[in-house]
Order: sequence, then C-alpha cells, then structure tokens
Amino acid sequence: MRTRVGVFFGGISVEHEVSVISGLQAIHAMDADRYEAIPIYISKDRTWYTGEKLTDIEAYKDLKALLSEATPVIPVAADNGGIVLQKNPAPRFGKREVSQIDVAFPVLHGTFGEDGGLQGLFELMNIPYVGCDVGASALGMDKVTMKQVLRNEKLPVLNDVWFYNREWQEDSASIVKQIEEEIGLPAIVKPANLGSSVGIGVARNQESLEIAIEEALEYASKLIVEPLITDLKEMNCSVLGDTDEAEASVIEEVLKTEDILSYADKYQGSSRGGSKGGSGSKSMGGGMESTDRIIPAPIPDEETEQIQTLAVSTFKALGCGGVSRIDFMKDEANDIIYVNEINTIPGSLSFYLWEAADKDFQTLTNDLIQLALKRQRDRERLTFSIDSNLFSLQGEGGGKGGSKGGSKR
Ligand SMILES: Nc1ncnc2c1ncn2[C@@H]1O[C@H](COP(=O)(O)OP(=O)(O)O)[C@@H](O)[C@H]1O
Ligand SMILES: [Mg+2]
Repeated sequence: MRTRVGVFFGGISVEHEVSVISGLQAIHAMDADRYEAIPIYISKDRTWYTGEKLTDIEAYKDLKALLSEATPVIPVAADNGGIVLQKNPAPRFGKREVSQIDVAFPVLHGTFGEDGGLQGLFELMNIPYVGCDVGASALGMDKVTMKQVLRNEKLPVLNDVWFYNREWQEDSASIVKQIEEEIGLPAIVKPANLGSSVGIGVARNQESLEIAIEEALEYASKLIVEPLITDLKEMNCSVLGDTDEAEASVIEEVLKTEDILSYADKYQGSSRGGSKGGSGSKSMGGGMESTDRIIPAPIPDEETEQIQTLAVSTFKALGCGGVSRIDFMKDEANDIIYVNEINTIPGSLSFYLWEAADKDFQTLTNDLIQLALKRQRDRERLTFSIDSNLFSLQGEGGGKGGSKGGSKR
C-alpha cells in the first residue's frame, strides 16, 4: 500500500496564499507510485477541508465554489497510529471517515503552521510529520530566542535590543536610550515573531524610531531592534536533513528593489517584471519564486562554503529537521556575513535551490517524508513514560519500572 501523506496548507497567517502555492507544488512533486498525497486545506477561518479539487490551483480563484465542493473535516487519532479525517459535521447517514493519513506534511508558513502549533497537534496524535519538531519550530519563529541560541553558539548575528509592549508603555525613554547606546541609528525595528516584512520599519532619528516602534507594536507585543545595514547584500541557503546529518544547497542572491524587501516584493514580484535569475519556477501563479534572484549567487567559492557551513551550523544549533532556508545578510561595507533568520517551512520548500544542486523536487519530497519516518523510529526507542504504576509499588522499595532508555526516577 502506498504511504498516505496528508499535505497541510493554507492557514491563518498573512502567508496563506503563498502556502497554498507551496502546498500544491509539494503535492504535484510527490512520487505517486510511492505516496498517496491527501490535500488538507486550512481556511483563513481555521476550518479544515479535504478533496481532490483542492489540488487544482486554478480552483482557488473562486474560493467559495471550491469550498462548496470540498469536504470539511476534523482529525481524529487512528487506532493504529496516524490520523483519520472525519466529515464535520457528521453526516446523518453513511460513513463518517473520509480518509486516513500515515504521515503529516505541513506546508504552512508563519503563525501556527510554522511556529510549532500544528506540530504540537501532530505530536499529540502520534503521527510522524515532516520538518522541524515543536521546539525547533517555536525557536525559529521568534527572532529574539533564535538569535540568543545562535549567539551562544558563536554564530554571527547582529546585536539587538528587545522588549515587550508593556515595558515600552511603562518606560519608553529608557528603551530609546538603550537603543541609542547599544544599537545606534539608523536602526531597524521588527516584530519578533512575524514574517514577510510585516510591521518592519527603519528609524533614522529618534522621532522615526518611536513611530516605527509604535507601528510594529500593532502587530506584535515583542519587538527586536537591530542596527541597519546600509550596504546590504542578501543571500539565502537551504539545509536538508536532521541533527545527525544535514547538507546545504546552492546559494541564491536575493535582489532587492526597495529599502526593505517588502511583502509586495516577495510575493507579487511577478507583477513587477518577474524573475531574472531563472529559479526553475513552475507556472503556478507566481508566488515566492518570482522574487528577483540569482542562482547560484555570483560569489567566490570560499564565500559559498562559508555560508553553507554557517547554514548547517544554524540548522543544527536550533535542532531543525526537514528542509529549512537560512537567510543571510552581508554588510558589504565591512565585509561581514550575518545569519539573519531561519524559515523552517520555506516558500516552495526551497525546491529551486535543490534543483540547482541536482536534487529534483520529487526526490526532495521523498527525502522529507523519509526523514519524518526516521524521526518517528528514533523516538520510539526513547522512553516517555514508565511501565509500572508507581502507586502499586508502595512498600516494595520504590520503582523498578522504566523501560528502554531508562527513566532516572
Ligand atoms: N539589520 C538589517 N539591516 C538592513 N536590512 C535589514 C535588516 N534586517 C532585515 N532587513 C531587511 O528586512 C527584510 C525583512 O527582515 P527579516 O528579518 O528577514 O524579517 P521577515 O521575517 O519579515 O522576513 C530583510 O529581508 C532585509 O531586506
Ligand atoms: Mg526574511
């Protein structure tokens, strides 16, 4: 029997549409002889749908019509592992089960799909899933905690000041002072846990700093402020694997057209002239791969190797699994390369960076599913609970329980 792979896409984040493109790309790339891809579309109002029609990108132009043909479902843990998708609401007659999945393949970007939320559900339902686990997903989503871990591992990240909304409301003067002293101006203000440049602003003087902070606070209650690199070159590298073994892809240079690479730049690039870099994109309605990019980045071999090494170290430091994209910023004036951020579910799963490294999209999806199964096998060797009922051991001299791996208690 083919392995049934539930591909999750859509979601509630601002990157909903990008996720639909990425999700369908993954479904169409999968080896149909080995895997049965089952689409699970999460609508902006959080309803889950399944159905064949959801695999057709054209159908999304009329979302209402599409959803009237799709089946709303809820997940229920299957007896033998995996998830059963049941019709929701339950039909008055007939079968409730729509399909069953053996492996979950989340292709959601941003809030709750990429931040560990959905991964937590997969953990509870005991289904193997593609990509980072709960901890790595959550760590990667928060720019503050991510940089704290990387800094601790001696990986190059920009200095920053971070704070919560409440601290700003209570004493903005001392935060401004701290930023001026530790970061200096110009600076860049970012929400700690969003993507797509949402809420990001540049501050060149104290007044614009306060404005940028107030604006960013509309999107998040935790902010991070960094020095602004004015002579900036942006390069990205994808990493595939797990904490045992991970490999780096080729590197892309992302060409920017505005002060900050904005949401419009990233996702609506096609309307402004499309790709210069030959990203190997499929014609699936634009999306991530239409950002202007050069692949491979025209940089010396040495620099390529440096970035690849940093990318793999970042991936491992954060405890990642599956495929991630690590974004770098080079300060050209000072010739320093910084790790900027990690995307643990990158747009289009970064397939174009692997194609350029001679790994086609089908092989990439295969590797990802196999990595999910490997992690599940590894986990089954660990002890999560002890066999004996400690209450029943009273008077017997304490716990002799503990199965494989040995609990210390
Ligand atoms: N310290 C910085 N100096 C200059 N530009 C920056 C800096 N940090 C981010 N940017 C610009 O803003 C963009 C978005 O920032 P990033 O940290 O990647 O957030 P997001 O998660 O929204 O993508 C980057 O791609 C880059 O163009
Ligand atoms: Mg970014």
